[in-house]
Amino acid sequence: AAADKGAYPYYMLKEIDEQPAVMRRIQGKYLDNNEPKFDAKLIKQLTDATKLYIVGAGTSYHAGLVGKKLFEKLAKTPTEVVVASEFAYDDPIIEDGAMFIFLSQSGETADSRQVLVRATNEWKVPTLTITNVDNSTLAREADNAVTLEAGPEIAVASTKAYTAQIAVEVLLATAVGRIKDITAAKEIDLNEQFSQTANAMQVVVDEKDQIQKIAEDNLAKTRNAFYIGRGLDYNVALEASLKLKEISYIQAEGFAAGELKHGTIALIEKGTPVIGIITQAATADNTRSNLQEVLSRGANVINIVREGLAKDGDQIIIPSVDEIMMPLVSVVVGQLMAYYATLLRGYNVDQPRNLAKSVTVE
Ligand code: AGP
Repeated sequence: AAADKGAYPYYMLKEIDEQPAVMRRIQGKYLDNNEPKFDAKLIKQLTDATKLYIVGAGTSYHAGLVGKKLFEKLAKTPTEVVVASEFAYDDPIIEDGAMFIFLSQSGETADSRQVLVRATNEWKVPTLTITNVDNSTLAREADNAVTLEAGPEIAVASTKAYTAQIAVEVLLATAVGRIKDITAAKEIDLNEQFSQTANAMQVVVDEKDQIQKIAEDNLAKTRNAFYIGRGLDYNVALEASLKLKEISYIQAEGFAAGELKHGTIALIEKGTPVIGIITQAATADNTRSNLQEVLSRGANVINIVREGLAKDGDQIIIPSVDEIMMPLVSVVVGQLMAYYATLLRGYNVDQPRNLAKSVTVE
């Protein structure tokens, strides 16, 4: 069965490995002849929206951060991403033309539901839930629902749901952008990108030994660690650090590479692991200088760099796909890094302390 861990020691590892297949499944279900295929009413509502709000918690919030960049680039729709538990009690100014997108693996997160209730009853705006669980509360209560097709996710640490959420956001944003005649949306070859991304993910999961070794050398004993990056790489830094902290209990922080020098760099000591993510050409040099700054303060620098931007001495080189798809590839390294750090430190990967798979209280 899909929810059987088979020969795998932990569900998390199985779910990490499934990601290339999930990409292909999403491609099969939501792409037809290179055109995104969704309910027409949903695409009309999204296209008519003059402002999008993406709501989520934890990993789903992080997928929303990437979604903002996708909707702004591919569909040119202004997008705001909000943490559900904060937004639920804020006093936002919701303009006419707004639409709300809820990202939730489980579809049961109480914080997100609280925002959905207000969106429906108070702000009276169209809503969409993107979830991995078909008949979940958030799916039933929103005007529209799109299923992630990631298959059951059992490990508390979310992996394939994050990449599935981003994949679906790419398709939705492209669908809207093509109707709005946005060049970036017209130019992206979705079939090609999805196939290449699935292959690139496969390359990363096939290089587990290398990532395990890097985790052994850098994360076995450390008390803290940083992930840094800019733009989409920063978004992935946040997710990779959440993975690390929730299962390995390393105090990890995802940080905007350029912001580090404005204070947080004071935390860098001899041996502090700092993992830099470099997949975007426009910011690669700047992130490299930020890594240089921490290196000269004694940090153990590890970098994850996409082919084409790599230089001598880079540790983890990942295959290149369209830059907007790179989070789907780079995050897999972060997931595996967290997995191996946790094994090394002797904790239960699938069931971290203090955490439940879905959080149904506010
Ligand atoms: C991710 O690894 C977490 N365990 C957690 O942050 C999770 O993403 C969050 O609770 C939201 O859950 P949802 O996607 O089911 O709404």
